[in-house]
Amino acid sequence: MTKKTRKLADIITAFGTSDGSGVKLKRCISRRRQDLLDPFILLDEFCTDNPDDYIGGFPEHPHRGFETVTYMLAGAMRHRDHMGNEGHLKPGSVQWMTAAHGVIHSEMPEQEQGRLHGFQLWINLPASEKMKPPHYQEFGAEMIPVVPLADGAYVKVIAGEFISDSGKVTGPVTGVATRPLYFDVLLTEGQDIHIPVGEQQTVLIYVYEGDLNVDDSDNSLTEGQLGLLMPGTDIELKTRGYDCRFLVLAASPIGEPVVQSGPFVMNTHEEIEQAFRDYRDGRLTL
Ligand code: FE2
Repeated sequence: MTKKTRKLADIITAFGTSDGSGVKLKRCISRRRQDLLDPFILLDEFCTDNPDDYIGGFPEHPHRGFETVTYMLAGAMRHRDHMGNEGHLKPGSVQWMTAAHGVIHSEMPEQEQGRLHGFQLWINLPASEKMKPPHYQEFGAEMIPVVPLADGAYVKVIAGEFISDSGKVTGPVTGVATRPLYFDVLLTEGQDIHIPVGEQQTVLIYVYEGDLNVDDSDNSLTEGQLGLLMPGTDIELKTRGYDCRFLVLAASPIGEPVVQSGPFVMNTHEEIEQAFRDYRDGRLTL
């Protein structure tokens, strides 16, 4: 297979907003880009030292038709759902929730002071998976492989395979319809990294600290920016100056119509109306 390095196609800058009960967020996937970003629906970063910005949390709310992925860097969240499942998301842990037919849950900070920092990614499901029973994959920091690089840099492999000269490392999240990669990377000053990716996949880079060059272009990604990459087999990333921390996200596009309304992501308006009716009548969950 001929190697083709992916170039930067577009930069989406996060905007400040709030969700849940007043949780302040940086949000950087918007609905007008959903076709290009297929199967990604939304990426939120919450990062604050001020409890007023997060203490309200995300009280009980529904989801249907997609997956939510919560990855914590600092602080802790308590998760409870309609099935009696309870999870404690600590720093470095990931919760991969396949909401599918329906989940009603709450996500509340489990601290009254200190920093809360993490991400929530929404990934769509194909029509054939949208009405299946919901399920979870949860992994603590100790379950997520860390590939060390020079100078203290690293790649944390949450989902998918990270392939380098030293071999292949596979993340603990498995069995996801869109075959995602989810890496959390730290590069130090002047470092670069090469990551093979699926040629047909949608690839995004989200920088949450520092600046990053993509394929030696003059356009760098800076803190709070999401880069959408053009098609290709490989990505080449290099820091500009200081340390840089970023997420590498890739997944296979689904290629189906996307109709979203709030916490429901379906294929048609009729299915969205059905989801609202089911939620109202207590039939969202199985
Ligand atoms: Fe939620």
